[in-house]
Amino acid sequence: MTSIAHVAVIGLGYIGLPTAAILAEHGLQVTGVDVNAQTVAAVRAGTVPFVEPELGEYVSRTVARGTLTASTQTPSAEAYIVAVPTPFREDLSPDLSFIESAGRALAPTLSGGELVILESTSPPGATERLAQVIQQERPDLATSGDLKFAHCPERVLPGSVMRELVENDRIVGGVTTEAAEAAAELYRTFCRGEILLTDARTAEMTKLVENSFRDVNIAFANELSVICAELGINVWELIELANHHPRVNILQPGPGVGGHCIAVDPWFIVDAAPESARLIRSARQVNDAKPGWVVDQVKARAYDVLQSTGRPPVVAALGLAFKKNIDDLRESPAVAIVDALARQLSDSQILAVEPHVDRLPPALTGHPGVTLADGRDAIERADIVVMLVDHDDFAALQEVAASKPVVDTRGLWAKRQSSPRS
Ligand SMILES: NC(=O)c1ccc[n+]([C@@H]2O[C@H](COP(=O)([O-])OP(=O)(O)OC[C@H]3O[C@@H](n4cnc5c(N)ncnc54)[C@H](O)[C@@H]3O)[C@@H](O)[C@H]2O)c1
Repeated sequence: MTSIAHVAVIGLGYIGLPTAAILAEHGLQVTGVDVNAQTVAAVRAGTVPFVEPELGEYVSRTVARGTLTASTQTPSAEAYIVAVPTPFREDLSPDLSFIESAGRALAPTLSGGELVILESTSPPGATERLAQVIQQERPDLATSGDLKFAHCPERVLPGSVMRELVENDRIVGGVTTEAAEAAAELYRTFCRGEILLTDARTAEMTKLVENSFRDVNIAFANELSVICAELGINVWELIELANHHPRVNILQPGPGVGGHCIAVDPWFIVDAAPESARLIRSARQVNDAKPGWVVDQVKARAYDVLQSTGRPPVVAALGLAFKKNIDDLRESPAVAIVDALARQLSDSQILAVEPHVDRLPPALTGHPGVTLADGRDAIERADIVVMLVDHDDFAALQEVAASKPVVDTRGLWAKRQSSPRS
């Protein structure tokens, strides 16, 4: 059992708020801290300022019970969990300024003996950096050496966060063994998965490596899709056949890699070991180049239409979401592709089809040629169809597009078997 009774969770976003709510649900006194006053006001009112199933019930229940409160000021607590953003800068180096400012804000509240856990996805050494920032602010405590610092990365899946927080295994890395053990005790209050102890740097690297593994494997599939287009081979059939090998499991290609984890975290490894991280850097470059390749494929077909009809083509772009059957358009390669098409085929009309939203995202509203359209209607009106997301709704539309040039980046319609050559 943990002896910790009061926890401050710093950063009330997709990760911090669920963590705060689950700790409060299990009887700890939790203060959620955020620099955004609207977020704090929403939590105080027992509401959630973003969409995550079940989280609303946890927040309203724990706020009503008084175990969860929120503030823009960091209070004194026995443990602090830091879950602030860790973006990368323009030069692809990690931006630790949010972590550092959270550290500076909590330092004055310490009295010695507290546990500080970094949950933000971080480059190797970030937990030690947080410790250093705090110890610089509080030299009186630095010398006694009894502050405990640990890293506990988060690998929950958006949409299933409340279940995965409880069920997933956790890696807990301590700057000291004592810190790792204290952090593990705290997570045991709600986590039923295995809790695995290590040092802070290994824990930081574990999270980065998990996402880099995905990125490298997606890059392999994306590279195959480009090679196969050059060689006139159906990549979907190729991958399906190769995966019959008992030890081969190639992932599916796509229009690029979106989201704020897989497309970001590998750069932290590249930044930490620039000479050695050659495959990881290449994979990032391959995946980042894929949207541009898709745009070029559409432009080649647009040129053909222009040559044969004398007018700019109408393009139906199927899907804007970041992955199938969801409404999340953030960091979506599909949105980036439609944006690039609107810029590069500026005389064309682009009919964007996204059945899960009722308005275009801000990145696309500035293009007069881009409108939101119904799937069947868009395909009927289009000269070229580009499939960007494999939403289930689109499977039935293949017939409508039968006579049109199609760029299928997801293989929803293109998974036909090739005929053997006689
Ligand atoms: N969202 C995910 O699915 C996910 C999964 C695993 C790991 N992560 C990692 O968790 C971390 C947090 O991600 P998120 O998705 O919760 O981000 P988010 O943007 O949803 O939330 C971060 C919150 O921190 C607040 N904030 C920023 N600076 C602050 C400061 N100095 N003090 C207090 N609050 C501050 C922001 O106002 C915001 O509300 C990141 O490192 C991210 O990479 C996210």
